[in-house]
Amino acid sequence: MLGRKTRTRALARCWKLVLRGIIMEKEKAKNCFAQAFGVEAEDLFTAAGRINVIGEHVDYCGGKVFPAALNLRCNIYGKKTGTGVIRLAFRGIEGVVQLEIDKLDSYRKLKIGNYQAGVAYFIQQKGVNLVGCDLYYDCTVPFGSGLSSSAAIEVATAVALYEYAGVAYDKVDVALLSQKAENEYAGVNCGIMDQFASAMGKKDHAVLLDCSTLSYEYVPLKLGDYCIVVANCNKPHNLVESKYNVRRQEVETALKAIQTVKPVKNLAELSPEDFAEVRYLLSGVVEKRAEHVVMECARVKKAVTALKDGDIIELGRLLNESHDSLCRLYEVTGKELDTLSALARKEKDCLGSRMIGAGFGGCTISIVKKSAVEGFVRRVGLAYADAIGYKASFYETSIEDGITVSKL
Ligand code: GLA
Repeated sequence: MLGRKTRTRALARCWKLVLRGIIMEKEKAKNCFAQAFGVEAEDLFTAAGRINVIGEHVDYCGGKVFPAALNLRCNIYGKKTGTGVIRLAFRGIEGVVQLEIDKLDSYRKLKIGNYQAGVAYFIQQKGVNLVGCDLYYDCTVPFGSGLSSSAAIEVATAVALYEYAGVAYDKVDVALLSQKAENEYAGVNCGIMDQFASAMGKKDHAVLLDCSTLSYEYVPLKLGDYCIVVANCNKPHNLVESKYNVRRQEVETALKAIQTVKPVKNLAELSPEDFAEVRYLLSGVVEKRAEHVVMECARVKKAVTALKDGDIIELGRLLNESHDSLCRLYEVTGKELDTLSALARKEKDCLGSRMIGAGFGGCTISIVKKSAVEGFVRRVGLAYADAIGYKASFYETSIEDGITVSKL
């Protein structure tokens, strides 16, 4: 065993290394900004990627979700130019994308820059006079990971544009506007969870968000001797958006059938007992999808109580139940996520593990004893690569604030 002094010194060294890493990344990004635009960046705007502790595929059914903002973020280095153009450059991508402020409706088909254009367009629609600027994107949320890189990009962009326009903004409005840009400009039919977490996340807390009213409560994400390990199954993404939209249609069909006998606005209003009374109206996949939504909403309630009571074992059990329901009833997991979750659960120091986000690929979260993380990552990583044929990635994460704005 290491003595306390040695441990403190080792920890301090670790922090120094982490800080040095962050400073180096910042310097690198500032250089890239200067290379792309020929001037120096002046500001840094960031918005977070997210995990979701529990409450999956319920946001668009008016349910409660329980996400938390991550240290993995969209960082935008910026400078106001005052021209009629918003110029965008991206880490790892050659060239500059130009968005003319008086043509913002015309960039819907852009492969890169359409999220930014959508956000700018809807801010302009609110009557804000946008101001030209140069923005360099250094996004550390892995793309297609289910950790909401797109929401982080939208929210950070909205903040940068509002700041440069000199217009005060409300963070909840930023989340709503970002969702609108994704739905109506980029054509992705997501719910509100990701953008809300990205904008409203709070350090060391999860946000219990009621998606039907947008009322919310911060709950400390205190896990005692345990922590959350985020793992990406690295499945190549395909057709996630269309499969996601099919799920949305299926729950819509369930709701319509139930509304013939019960005056509910959302599936999430049904308790498991209510659902037992009306499920005769449903059949096949529609019945399964609705059952998932109703039971997942009930699990969110239990999970929040468990967390508040410090009952991490119960929280872990609920995470497993959630994954199993997403697998059997909602059918959004797939072999890779199921394998990752199953391997995690085999570990004696893991209390629970489930997929997060839309599914069909992306990440799991697992509740793992802090002292056992290293072995967990090694064993699960090896067994996963063995079973699937390629590696999973594990991320060092912490729970942070959603939006930050600073001068460089
Ligand atoms: C994606 C969507 C969210 C939510 C989750 C599933 O992340 O963007 O709105 O529906 O899937 O919970």
